[in-house]
Amino acid sequence: MKKIELQIDYEIYQAHELSQEEQILLEKALNATFMSYAPYSQFYVGAAVQLRDGTMIIGNNQENAAYPSGICAERNALFHVGALGKASEIVAIAIRARTPSLTLNQPIFPCGACRQVMLEYEQLASNPIKVLMQGETGDVLVAKGVENFLLPLVFRLIK
Ligand code: THU
Repeated sequence: MKKIELQIDYEIYQAHELSQEEQILLEKALNATFMSYAPYSQFYVGAAVQLRDGTMIIGNNQENAAYPSGICAERNALFHVGALGKASEIVAIAIRARTPSLTLNQPIFPCGACRQVMLEYEQLASNPIKVLMQGETGDVLVAKGVENFLLPLVFRLIK
């Protein structure tokens, strides 16, 4: 028997401690929550992806009466980038969320399906994608990459 231990760490920042670009990315992700279409969950998620040249591209969750037909904010933003042919240029993604029933003062973490998609885009980008996570207010959690910090032991096609 062999035992392998994995270590996952992340950093916690107050927003003002981040670079100006990162603060703008977080702001764009929060703004994107206002265009979410989430009448069923009333959980409004926004994402903003930053490219190498500084461009920021947003996405948000879009729900549907046939529930599984909807899409999460992170995948919406990443597929948006992919559709523009820019997947290889991604350097960071910010994820924010809001819900009317309370002030969300803690970060939300991306779901498993979004992590899987983020990881494949990380491979296309050939550099770690920095993931910044924040609620409506409060601390910002930063993971310095997807594979090493959010989704080790990922599914891969073996051919
Ligand atoms: N949602 C996201 O947009 N991102 C996630 O990582 C998890 C969940 C959305 C999906 C659905 O519209 C709502 O949040 C409640 O699950």
